[in-house]
Amino acid sequence: MAKIIKVLKGTKDILPQDVHMWHFLEKKANEVFSKYGFKEIRTPIIEVTELFSRGVGDTTDIVNKEMYTFEKSDRSITLRPENTAGVVRSYIENGMSRLPAPVKLWYKGSMFRYERPQAGRQRQFHQVGVEMFGIKQPTADAEVILAAVNYLKALGLNDLEVEINSLGCPKCREEFKNKLKAVLKPYFNDLCEDCQNRYEKNPLRLLDCKVEDCKKIFEKSEIQEIINSDFICEECAEHYTELKLYLDKMDVKYKENKLLVRGLDYYNRTVFEIKSNNLGSQNAVCGGGRYDGLVGQLGGEPTPAVGFAMGMERLISLLPQQEADKLDGYIVSNFLTDTFVLAEELRGKGLNVEFDLSNKKFSKQLEKAAKVAKFAIILGEDEIAKNQVSVKNLETGEQVTVDREICTKALKL
Ligand code: HAM
Repeated sequence: MAKIIKVLKGTKDILPQDVHMWHFLEKKANEVFSKYGFKEIRTPIIEVTELFSRGVGDTTDIVNKEMYTFEKSDRSITLRPENTAGVVRSYIENGMSRLPAPVKLWYKGSMFRYERPQAGRQRQFHQVGVEMFGIKQPTADAEVILAAVNYLKALGLNDLEVEINSLGCPKCREEFKNKLKAVLKPYFNDLCEDCQNRYEKNPLRLLDCKVEDCKKIFEKSEIQEIINSDFICEECAEHYTELKLYLDKMDVKYKENKLLVRGLDYYNRTVFEIKSNNLGSQNAVCGGGRYDGLVGQLGGEPTPAVGFAMGMERLISLLPQQEADKLDGYIVSNFLTDTFVLAEELRGKGLNVEFDLSNKKFSKQLEKAAKVAKFAIILGEDEIAKNQVSVKNLETGEQVTVDREICTKALKL
């Protein structure tokens, strides 16, 4: 026998028995995000590598370690590790800045990161997300967070925690970075390798380190003092205060977390995450924030923007297992030609109908009907002679015989 080929590590099949859960997430995304005026956009899964090195940032783990990159016709191409950069590229390339602001876009699709797979972390995973362009006021941040919270509510997920922080603007952040570096300098040799690398390139990311020895260093009082200092400038502070006012008014519960810095370089001012206590170490279902510099950085007119993305696998793991919808009817009969005709007739009327293509015994067909359908539609000799069908509700056992033309009514018993 030929050798079996297995799915790649960190990737998964979405099997027919689970696909209804994905449909549910996608349908709710369309419903909820449409209410806020977001329109769906679908961008390619492959982009030029430079989009991510310039967009996501070449000090990030994503760009340094996790991208699936390959050469084709002398071009370096990358499977998208996230979709903000791609949506920004499309926004610029398609002249969406000429549209009246705000431009609101939502998306769903596969992302690829070469990470160490574990529960809740895959190499191919799916995100659903939104991006809003053209509004610098914190109303946009608040609306985007509200859209996220209400999407999660629509899925039936209420037991989640919203965390927010403000990273300030490049100007006030620079000062903070220098202070942080100065206070960390005496401990440099005790930091992990990643932190030592980030020390020069992106010291803010040190705050996000999960290594115990590093965490202990950050607990030192002189370092805590810097972390907890209100480093952001007056304008950034006003933006942040106003955002919190809107969230309070809209009854969105949130926690402020000074250590929330996010793993992508493009953020300024607001950053947020939504976390669950039921997910183990990979507990973030949603991450996002404001990225006012990215459109300009990628060659467009400077445009303020804010958005988020959610991991769909993580959402599904939090949802109670729902049963897939059953067929409307399963035709039980030993008259194959008549059955075929009836099935097509009912499908033409919009019903989901199946029958046994291999003409098994009547009793076997009934057993199958009970497993897969809401109703058994029985077509025996008598029924055919009288142009009737018998319809059995497989939940209640109730059965009626009706004229064939009105059989669809009986299927709503
Ligand atoms: P991110 O935090 O890298 O942000 O990803 C957002 C969400 O995607 C995470 O909170 C998590 O639920 C899910 N996720 C990320 N990596 C994996 C993985 N390896 N396996 C499973 N799920 C994963 C972004 O991607 C930004 N583009 C979000 C954004 C949009 N910011 C502004 N606009």
